Amino acid sequence: MRLVVGVSGASGAPYARRLLDFLAEHGEAHGVTCDLVFTETGRQVWAQEIGGAPRYPWKIWHPRDFTAPFASGSSRYDAMVVIPCSAGALARIAHGISVDLLGRAADVMLKERRPLLLVLRETPLSLVHARALTQAIEAGAIVMPASPSFYSGPRTLEQLVDTVVARALDRLGLPNELMQRWTGLAPRAPEPVEDP
Ligand SMILES: Cc1cc2nc3c(=O)[nH]c(=O)nc-3n(C[C@H](O)[C@H](O)[C@H](O)COP(=O)(O)O)c2cc1C
Repeated sequence: MRLVVGVSGASGAPYARRLLDFLAEHGEAHGVTCDLVFTETGRQVWAQEIGGAPRYPWKIWHPRDFTAPFASGSSRYDAMVVIPCSAGALARIAHGISVDLLGRAADVMLKERRPLLLVLRETPLSLVHARALTQAIEAGAIVMPASPSFYSGPRTLEQLVDTVVARALDRLGLPNELMQRWTGLAPRAPEPVEDP
């Protein structure tokens, strides 16, 4: 699988880091190769939330370098995930405004009918966001809000982050056990019998 990972300037760099760390460790075993693109603000928020600059074994493309292979549908990349996805990136993607490489790559995924996952992080949502979401979904994007869950009993920040990243990996079809999966309610202990 040839995967594009886009990182935009929403809060949530730890989600990107966890996904990229997972892919760096396990991707090769599943035949995954990655190309990365950070928006300018994506790098700033990474520095703010994680510190330093991202370091991975794959090429990190300049946000305006449209010579990247995945800027063309003919290069046949398999999927793209934008994690985290800012409201601004969502709006640009929803309206095909390909002024940066992340937007162009997403545009290509939509036109080639390939999976495009948007891990949106914004709250509250305005009508502008809601309409952009609708448009993106209608165009084929899979919107996965960065909305952590608690039913698996996360105890640490990392485990909470994993509840979001695991679902993105699921949608990419990549086996993972990042979170405990829901298997139904545990049987309830019988009520204690009171002495007469
Ligand atoms: C620390 C920080 C946190 C931010 N968090 C969010 C956020 O959660 N969601 C969002 O849509 N924008 C957020 N923004 C604003 C975006 O970075 C801003 O709209 C920017 O233009 C997005 O650019 P991009 O889409 O090219 O990455 C944040 C900015 C900063 C500096």
